[in-house]
Amino acid sequence: MKKVITYGTYDLFHQGHYNILKRAKEYGDYLIVGVTSESFDIERGKIGVRDSLATRIENVRKTGFADEIIIEEFQGQKIQDVQKYGIDALVIGSDWYGKFDYLKPYCEVVYLERTKDISSTQLRLKQQFLQFGIITDNLDDGGIVLETKFVSGIHLDRVYSSKKSVADAFCSKYELNMSYNNLENFMSDIDVVIINTDIIDRYKYVKESLLAGKHVICSCPITQDIEELKELIEIAKDKKVILLESLFLAYMQSFNQMMWMVESNCIGNCISVKYGISNSEIPHMPEELIEQYATYVVYRLCGNDPFNKMSINHKKEKDQFYYNIVLQYADMFIDIELGMSVNSGLTIRGEKGILHVPDDWWNTGYFEMNDIETGMKKRYCYNYEGNGMRYILRELLILLREKQNLPIRMSYDTCINLLKLHKQIFKGDNL
Ligand code: CTP
Repeated sequence: MKKVITYGTYDLFHQGHYNILKRAKEYGDYLIVGVTSESFDIERGKIGVRDSLATRIENVRKTGFADEIIIEEFQGQKIQDVQKYGIDALVIGSDWYGKFDYLKPYCEVVYLERTKDISSTQLRLKQQFLQFGIITDNLDDGGIVLETKFVSGIHLDRVYSSKKSVADAFCSKYELNMSYNNLENFMSDIDVVIINTDIIDRYKYVKESLLAGKHVICSCPITQDIEELKELIEIAKDKKVILLESLFLAYMQSFNQMMWMVESNCIGNCISVKYGISNSEIPHMPEELIEQYATYVVYRLCGNDPFNKMSINHKKEKDQFYYNIVLQYADMFIDIELGMSVNSGLTIRGEKGILHVPDDWWNTGYFEMNDIETGMKKRYCYNYEGNGMRYILRELLILLREKQNLPIRMSYDTCINLLKLHKQIFKGDNL
């Protein structure tokens, strides 16, 4: 019996998928189809996928060509599959020409001509196209323009700035189509406003955008005033639009997995957490954002639990600042250092294990787990993370597609609670 295997995402199942599956089946007697998992697609940079894994599997199953369906979950799995299932031939479309020749020592590798003029990418582009505009007050986009290119269905082509020269220069630097100095004109036919200004102006721009019925993605923190934040959230709800606070960290795959591992008790009860953020490596990261990142870790680990004691050591000279904060909770303590030249690692110590990122933990697709009981060290890596913006854009697209108005990762409760905690830690508020 000749066993054939083929792989794909099979998003928005189309004729090209049908044809290749048919021909792959005809190439042998038994066909195994590998469908990519969501995390594998994210890891290899394919993050605009619309259909869930279950839908994609179901669509492959319905063709009747697959004798067996498996899930492709990691780089390098194909070699394992070919050996495990005793495969005679890998059949794949010609867009992959040459890419799987490394399997030739294990099985025959056949590239079949791709069906012309159709692809999931094309279909995704046809389905939904959102018009984006960015409001800025400086020439640094913080990587936003590039990030929008990773998510299909988004078209960012205009910029507004209160300073005409900034709008014009930004427009030409990032090769956008139009620059505006008049807010009303800028907003006339866009769906989503990205607000990337100094914190002082954010509240005003968010409010105007929401009132104009636009969805908003705003730099973090949106405001440092809880009443203002609550007001903006109410306007968003009232206008049935989405307000997303772009705390990139909340969307970083590796950071989230680390937090979920703590929550699922992988390292046992937490004993201590130690981390730092050094602004000498990231001068563009404003102090309020550094504080928000620091607070978010506390929030993810302890939620709204009150801490018993806090000690804070703060120095500020010209543009430089330094914080050392120790928070004492019932069973653990959190030690945070922020500012010039501090160690930028993150270590979460539990009774059974340690999670650790050596440096730049807020911006790294990597962490390791040290199992104290067995002495085993395990590494977790994620590629193509960018700065996290692409996941915020993806969440927005999913919410819009499902006609949902409430953000998930940075839910409105999270935004409010985070700001409260921030004020407790950094402003000494006793809320
Ligand atoms: N395929 C094909 N003809 C097409 C599109 C896809 O033969 N017009 C084949 C691919 O070569 C691959 C399989 O279908 O063997 C699954 O491809 P997949 O990447 O899931 O589909 P695409 O439409 O290429 O998806 P995308 O646009 O997201 O890359």
